[in-house]
Amino acid sequence: MLGVLSPFFFCGNGLIVSRCLFWFWQFSAKAGSNCCIRVVGMGSKLVGCGSAIPTLSISNDNLSKIVETSDEWIAARTGIRNRRVLSGDETLRGLSIQAAQRALEMAQVKAEDVDLVLLCTSTPDDLFGGAAQVLTEVGCTNAFGFDITAACSGFIVGLITATRFIKGGGIRNVLVVGADALSKFVDWTDRGTCILFGDAAGAVLVQACSADEDGLLGFCVQSDGNGQKHLNAATSNDESILSNTNGVPGFPPKKATYSCIQMNGKEVFRFAVRCVPQSIEKALEEAGLPASSIDWLLLHQANQRIIDAAASRLDIPSDKIISNLANYGNTSAASIPLALDEAVRSGKVKTGDIIAASGFGAGLTWGSAIVKWG
Ligand SMILES: CC(C)(COP(=O)(O)OP(=O)(O)OC[C@H]1O[C@@H](n2cnc3c(N)ncnc32)[C@H](O)[C@@H]1OP(=O)(O)O)[C@@H](O)C(=O)NCCC(=O)NCCS
Repeated sequence: MLGVLSPFFFCGNGLIVSRCLFWFWQFSAKAGSNCCIRVVGMGSKLVGCGSAIPTLSISNDNLSKIVETSDEWIAARTGIRNRRVLSGDETLRGLSIQAAQRALEMAQVKAEDVDLVLLCTSTPDDLFGGAAQVLTEVGCTNAFGFDITAACSGFIVGLITATRFIKGGGIRNVLVVGADALSKFVDWTDRGTCILFGDAAGAVLVQACSADEDGLLGFCVQSDGNGQKHLNAATSNDESILSNTNGVPGFPPKKATYSCIQMNGKEVFRFAVRCVPQSIEKALEEAGLPASSIDWLLLHQANQRIIDAAASRLDIPSDKIISNLANYGNTSAASIPLALDEAVRSGKVKTGDIIAASGFGAGLTWGSAIVKWG
């Protein structure tokens, strides 16, 4: 009967497949180059958040024993003083699970009531993705899940994807996890990059609501492959997998490995300072709001100078900036939900506050969302 009434079909544990893919396709088709949308119709709101960090803290002074640098140089150029790095038995999956559980706890939503889990990461423990394992270990027995790779914009892309699924109908609770362990891909002998990155996970529970309660007020996502040369961790083909193919032409395939992060810091800096304020302005325009309505500016935590430049361009005073990168460095897809979680739990961000959140990074990808908390 259900199949006649709606284009959904259910399989396994209530898995909704066709409608999800349809809405995701609609979103992807629009987001391919430049997508700025005013959100209307069914709403979605952010009702819980959580985060998790590795135990090992590496200070600038620690790094100065490995590469020629100093706490003064790193702090002045980036604002970073410490970063957390996976060690021992810690895994990206473990951090993601903890962050997700904490978000569910704050939202007072049971794991079995989650319909969709989006794991936004560029560094899964498994090349084929980690969402399925995360949702299984959290106990989301009725959820479908998949990974989203959009580097440091991953969480913003995941958040917007969650709201598109909800808007499509049939999905009530979406767990969006932003998690990365870039420490695995950093060249720790390169002082130009190793000072920047750290590992963490953050999560948000996005829930369906009526249109008048809608918490996603506007968004803008963009990408430009021309800038990939400025920031990447590309695959390289190493040795052959087969030593003898008995003369099959064009064979054998090569075993691929990832290179360490390659970055032109100056170009990435220029890109961020130019594109992030523009992206927020477009998202504000779609939301029909002036910059003065922003209670909190929450940018991807890459560099304090980038954050301050964007705030200055948007005329947002420094007491409205959320920043925790001094403690964690750039944690890629985790940085926005990690900073949000700390700001909510410390009582800084309150129900009804309007947050301008913006992610940017490799791809190049960048995007902004104007959201209301709670
Ligand atoms: C990486 C970054 C901090 C470098 O700062 P910068 O002001 O551009 O510095 P430069 O690369 O021009 O280097 C200036 C000098 O400092 C030196 N230097 C570079 N890294 C250093 C370090 N960790 N410690 C001390 N000196 C360093 C350089 O060798 C150079 O020396 P020289 O003048 O003798 O040649 C900055 O470009 C940046 O943050 N870019 C954005 C990167 C980013 O956010 N990436 C992730 C986006 S998601």
